[in-house]
Amino acid sequence: MASMKFPTKCLLFFPLILTILASLQNYSSQAQTPTLNPYDFLHIIPNPDGSITRPKEFFPTVPPNTSSPLTFSKDVPLNPNKKPWVRVYLPKYSKPVNDLPIVVFAHGGGFVVQSTASPPLDSFLSNTASQLAALVVSVEFRLAPEHRLPAAYDDVLEALFWVKEKKDEWVSKYGDVSRCVIMGESSGGNIVYNVGLRASDLVRELEPLIIRGLVLIQPFFGGVNPITTGVAGNLEIVFDLLWNLSLPLGAPLNNPYFNPMFGGGSSNLEKIKNLGWRVAFAGCDGDFMIDRQVEVFKFFKKRKLDVVGDFCKGYYHGVFIGDPTQAQKLYDFVRNVFSSYMRY
Ligand SMILES: *[C@@H]1O[C@H](CO)[C@@H](O)[C@H](O)[C@H]1NC(C)=O
Ligand SMILES: *[C@@H]1O[C@H](CO)[C@@H](O)[C@H](O)[C@H]1NC(C)=O
Ligand SMILES: *[C@@H]1O[C@H](CO)[C@@H](O)[C@H](O)[C@H]1NC(C)=O
Repeated sequence: MASMKFPTKCLLFFPLILTILASLQNYSSQAQTPTLNPYDFLHIIPNPDGSITRPKEFFPTVPPNTSSPLTFSKDVPLNPNKKPWVRVYLPKYSKPVNDLPIVVFAHGGGFVVQSTASPPLDSFLSNTASQLAALVVSVEFRLAPEHRLPAAYDDVLEALFWVKEKKDEWVSKYGDVSRCVIMGESSGGNIVYNVGLRASDLVRELEPLIIRGLVLIQPFFGGVNPITTGVAGNLEIVFDLLWNLSLPLGAPLNNPYFNPMFGGGSSNLEKIKNLGWRVAFAGCDGDFMIDRQVEVFKFFKKRKLDVVGDFCKGYYHGVFIGDPTQAQKLYDFVRNVFSSYMRY
């Protein structure tokens, strides 16, 4: 597994849905698949009232793992409505540590499916807490289309305020809210970017919490042109559906939520630059979203953000969650970029 190189044709749409792999290889190896039904592809069922059904067999979840040797974990509601909630991971040490940096995390799934409690993600997050020696707060944000954007952005922002208020014992006892990093994968990377823009306006309000940077792992961005090229071009219909389900009703496809370059980019990029936030950007060229990611990465550079890229050859979308060796490389990268704040 460790050294296995995935052929670039072997694309994974969502890392956590291994069942998709077989059919995806078929789609990408055929020139065109005009009959591709994006609902079937995503394993979701549209309902007459506009909501969707996410069958449990395709989207399993697990409770906090009480037998993990790496971390303690628990679920905590952010407000009395019980939505959203967070799963918090505390590394296990022989000696108590009271100043762990805090990683606030947003999962992938196109804003429409998946949960922080899905088994591969739960294990990834436990490893993240253990490897980065950080308190990880992963947000179970509301999903579209029942809750269209910016609901997911609102929820992750709410989680930042929850951390700031230190109402939770683990945060107040073991965490250092002045060393906070926001991290997300795929559409979670999009969420991190948009929450970062908003949070750059709320620096005072968030004190004593201090954001030190953003980690964008294979982030999902859109724009004017199709995202995908080559063999993955016929997946465009799947992206269209995800945008349709998650954008505010009537919003055009080219808009600032999905396209960081829209209208020359947000004026808050200047604030992020001036705040000195670091941006760690991880990707690989076997990911069918790589072209857009590289475009956004270069755009951040042009806007003089303190952005560091780590782009590897080969692999696929979702590899950093799905492949322990690549996850390990991601941890090394993040530790390096945030070496002043992650010191264990
Ligand atoms: C892939 O396509 C072939 C030929 O069209 C078909 O026989 C096979 O069942 C397909 N496999 C999957 C996993 O969809
Ligand atoms: C709990 O975590 C351990 C170590 O990571 C793992 O081996 C075990 O399978 C996990 N248990 C569950 C129920 O996920
Ligand atoms: C998305 O919405 C646009 C405009 O309403 C429509 O033309 C397109 O067919 C939709 N795509 C999907 C996959 O539903």
